[in-house]
Amino acid sequence: MAVLEVLRYPNPVLKSKAILVKEIDSELRSLINDMAETMYASSAVGLAAPQVGKLLRVAVVDVTPKAEGKNLIVLINPKIVAKEGETVLEEGCLSVPDYREKVKRWARVKVEALDQEGKIREIEGEGLLSIALQHETDHLNGMLIIDRISSLKRSIFKKTMKKQLLVKD
Ligand code: NI
Repeated sequence: MAVLEVLRYPNPVLKSKAILVKEIDSELRSLINDMAETMYASSAVGLAAPQVGKLLRVAVVDVTPKAEGKNLIVLINPKIVAKEGETVLEEGCLSVPDYREKVKRWARVKVEALDQEGKIREIEGEGLLSIALQHETDHLNGMLIIDRISSLKRSIFKKTMKKQLLVKD
């Protein structure tokens, strides 16, 4: 197992749509293990494959990252099949470091996905789990939290990033 490098905004991979997994083999399972380790190493509640440079529809979620591995959810080809209500919570993302903003989401979702054994799983989530499931599904569609905020907040974010990137150069 290994901690992987997490890509950061504005890396174009993060804006790309990930492709469906066709075969769950040892290579994929090893990627999933590494993704879980990477998530736990940062105490994050989720990580999607595009964030580590793999454009596959795979994500890991654990809303209790301190209890490492106890409530790990593996999502292969996840699909939101039901949703209701509305909730707003401040979110962060490993690919958008040092940034947190309120994001409007569905309060409850039901997700269908395959697990690492290829079994169909149905995950129902509310609260933080619901948000994490939507946040990670967004990553598979090339969407970041900054694509979910108002255009005014987004333009402020982009200006700030530009300045930071210029300073780094
Ligand atoms: Ni994220």
